[in-house]
Amino acid sequence: VTPSHCAIERTLGMIKPDCVRNKHVDEIRKIILAQGFSFVKEKDTKLDVASAKSFYQEHNGKEFFPSLIEFMTSGPVHPMVLEGEGAIKKWRALMGPTDSNKARITAPDSIRAAFGTDNQMNCVHGSDAPESAAREISFFFGDDKQASKQEPEAPSKV
Ligand code: TYD
Ligand code: MG
Repeated sequence: VTPSHCAIERTLGMIKPDCVRNKHVDEIRKIILAQGFSFVKEKDTKLDVASAKSFYQEHNGKEFFPSLIEFMTSGPVHPMVLEGEGAIKKWRALMGPTDSNKARITAPDSIRAAFGTDNQMNCVHGSDAPESAAREISFFFGDDKQASKQEPEAPSKV
């Protein structure tokens, strides 16, 4: 449920290599559109090791990091800038929990439940906060002042 007072936000969604490989991009785009998101930008690209490490820098040093980088560089990805009311939380909810097997129990209607395999090959990424949304949108698409409209623009210096 999206409260009507939610701000219009932008978030970074990404279809990961497992889902691109299995040709689920069109189906997932239709699910996203049916939930009322707009696509602001999207592209097909591939992460090299340095970019994958940079994108997932918050997880550097964790036990699953090397394997995550190997997976994320194993094939093309499809990043998307999604816009809508409360888009950041709304997209996370539509994705479901990180572990696809857990998603099938606790969030059976989620994208990870439907298309993911496990805790690593979970089909989609979503920013977890306005700050990460801004960083991740600019990571793939360059600077975008509209990344989050929740905070007022800083006054311009004269
Ligand atoms: P995380 O940010 O915790 O999850 P989410 O994608 O839901 O924000 O982790 C980033 C990715 O790292 C996750 O999508 C898949 C991978 N990962 C693993 O491979 N093993 C793990 O135990 C965890 C927690 C994540
Ligand atoms: Mg995360």
